[in-house]
Amino acid sequence: MTLSQFEIQDIDQTVLLWLDHLRIKTLIAMQQQLEVDTKHDVRDLVTNVDKDNERMINAKIRAFDSEASIVSEEGFGDQQRDMNGNVWFVDPIDGTMNFVKERANFAIMIALYVDNKPVLGWILDVVNNVVYHGGPQLGVFANHLRLDNPVNDTLSDGIVLLSGARLLYGMFGYDKIAKSALGYRVIGAAGPSFIRVILGQAVGYSSKMMPWDFAAGQVLAKTLGLSVSDIDGQPLNMLSSNIVLVATNRAHRDILTLHQS
Ligand code: IPD
Ligand code: CA
Ligand code: CA
Ligand code: CA
Repeated sequence: MTLSQFEIQDIDQTVLLWLDHLRIKTLIAMQQQLEVDTKHDVRDLVTNVDKDNERMINAKIRAFDSEASIVSEEGFGDQQRDMNGNVWFVDPIDGTMNFVKERANFAIMIALYVDNKPVLGWILDVVNNVVYHGGPQLGVFANHLRLDNPVNDTLSDGIVLLSGARLLYGMFGYDKIAKSALGYRVIGAAGPSFIRVILGQAVGYSSKMMPWDFAAGQVLAKTLGLSVSDIDGQPLNMLSSNIVLVATNRAHRDILTLHQS
């Protein structure tokens, strides 16, 4: 199905209303005692807010789009096997450890792909009250402000963002990449890291991620002329984990070269 510009604008506005509500709900929940559990290991946190947000977002999507398939983190989505039709991606709290410990540097992320094509992405920075949203048909906005494509800086001219655990163990060539950059940072959450690359504050970001971690960021980054691939330069698989690389075109080339050397 091909959506008209009008339909895409309508979907964008609808999801922005949900996110407005979710932001208030999340801020109120942060004033109360969080229920924090672990999943696979002690660093893999999940809270009542992750679960409540996902339940609410998925219910809104299903009421709005009867043909929706949902790929989401906390178990309220579908067992998706292909990218046919309207596939929504939901990360109800991205950066749960930051959410619990820093009370900052986390996001709520939603994306819509139709027949495997990126259509819309939303990354809500809850604390700063900015939602980054849009897609190839609309452009990318920070709230109402249209964003320009970031400057095409090289790796040695900018800051690169990396996953801390993999950097610590020198995996995926991250040690070489960090040494070649002007500076490197570990933000600890995918959405806030994508935001920094989209705004031109960082030249690149790489981490191993699940589809809900990168789906929204990929829509926005590609729309702004950034390169998004796996660490071998291949397109991302939307139904499995990937070692994701988003970067300016020049930094992307630099990082692929380093990774292959
Ligand atoms: C995680 C964060 C982290 C990234 C992990 C993600 P979550 O998301 O974005 O930075 O390295 O791969 O799983 O679990 O806090 O939503
Ligand atoms: Ca998680
Ligand atoms: Ca995430
Ligand atoms: Ca999450």
